[in-house]
Amino acid sequence: MKLNKNSKFSKPLNIDFYPAFTMAKNIAVIGSQFGDEGKGKIIDFLAESADVVARFNGGNNAGHTIKVNNETTILHLMPSGILHNGTINIIGNGVVVDPNILAKEIENLRSKGVKVTPDNLVLSENAHVILEKHIMEDKEKNKHLGTTARGIGPAYTDKAARTGLRVIDYVSQGKSSLNPFVRNSVVLINDLIDKNKKVLFEGAQGTLLDIDHGTYPYVTSSNATAGGICTGLGIGPKKIDKVLGIAKAYITRVGNGPLPTELGTEQEIKEEKGYNELKSDLSEEGFERLMRKITKEANEGSEYKQGRLLRMNGVEYGSTTGRPRRTGWFDALIGKYSVIVNGFDAIALTKLDVLSGFEKIKICVGYKYNDKIIKNFTTNVEILKNCKPIYEELPGWRENITKIRNFKELPKNAQKYVERIEELLNVPVAVVSVGPERSQTIVLRKEFLFDSKSSK
Ligand code: IMP
Repeated sequence: MKLNKNSKFSKPLNIDFYPAFTMAKNIAVIGSQFGDEGKGKIIDFLAESADVVARFNGGNNAGHTIKVNNETTILHLMPSGILHNGTINIIGNGVVVDPNILAKEIENLRSKGVKVTPDNLVLSENAHVILEKHIMEDKEKNKHLGTTARGIGPAYTDKAARTGLRVIDYVSQGKSSLNPFVRNSVVLINDLIDKNKKVLFEGAQGTLLDIDHGTYPYVTSSNATAGGICTGLGIGPKKIDKVLGIAKAYITRVGNGPLPTELGTEQEIKEEKGYNELKSDLSEEGFERLMRKITKEANEGSEYKQGRLLRMNGVEYGSTTGRPRRTGWFDALIGKYSVIVNGFDAIALTKLDVLSGFEKIKICVGYKYNDKIIKNFTTNVEILKNCKPIYEELPGWRENITKIRNFKELPKNAQKYVERIEELLNVPVAVVSVGPERSQTIVLRKEFLFDSKSSK
């Protein structure tokens, strides 16, 4: 049995030789950064073996891009298990639901041949409804926050003000096609858990966008952290077996608010041509030439080009709004903070392939603010906006790693990068993702995943 000697979590990385261990029963998937960590891909990967997929927070501000057999599907509201036969999908009471969007998603999925019936989709009667007035208000009042303008904040505002409309009240007005899906989801999910069904708790957004623990006021209006699972679905904390944090190998943010390791300025990003625009304007050769030029300038030290290279290699454009995402180096302070706020058992590190081509890769290990060195993350927006990141530099790799399926076959420097993140965050990495396809996934530690033998 080969041990990964460099890692503090010295467990065999070649999982095929690892003796029996208890695998996870219920797993929570939580964004550890600002959303868009690639949760959709990991959720889809896990949903293959899940019996139930349950969403507990947010609304159609989320956007999960899922690629299966070269076909891209974007889900905003629908839990990701909908693409898997026999999986029960629950939209929990903690979610805010735009009935028009949900009806459209159902229709769209059905037109692609996906079965959506009350047997595989359940909408909590206690979820709150997003109305037209909420969307108008979001557009008018929340521009400064850079929200998705989907009415999320105003709908949660009405919920807290006790002036909101619950799904149960909405459908009793008799005007909705959603009626057949509406149930008491709390009784259902607890029953399924008691029957030992494998439940996947699907988080939306990320820890730093959490209303309580994020960079307030630049946050969403729900609890995107693991704590939101209990309130957003009506289950006790002991029912959550494993909490898997999703971290991108670098960092991105859409919308406004601080991003300490940001590469390039707002103005530079504004002036930049979009990915699709470039793809349609340039020949394939022209596009490749441009990418080589950006790579060269990034490696010569241009911070903006480093950020642009991450944006273009990672296709970092919002799946809900199409906005270019702001990009930066991996922030270990944010990582450590997310580990404690959510109690992550392990991390799934996504988009490692995007870092191929960088001669040097940086990880932020501290912030410098007014001559003070800060080692722990703070939600003080003033500090976050004005601090200077302190970096540790690691050697990069050139190889394309998208076809690699075994950790030990990754370039040595890529392995070292993953192990350094484990060390800094003090949590094992269970999965590394090297591309958008379900198959482009390296499993390092199976014990944080479901037993693939489905009980469906
Ligand atoms: P809201 O959730 O539309 O109110 O937007 C609040 C903030 O959260 C904005 O900065 C949005 O860009 C951000 N946000 C909301 N949902 C997502 C998501 O799924 N991924 C990334 N950012 C998000």
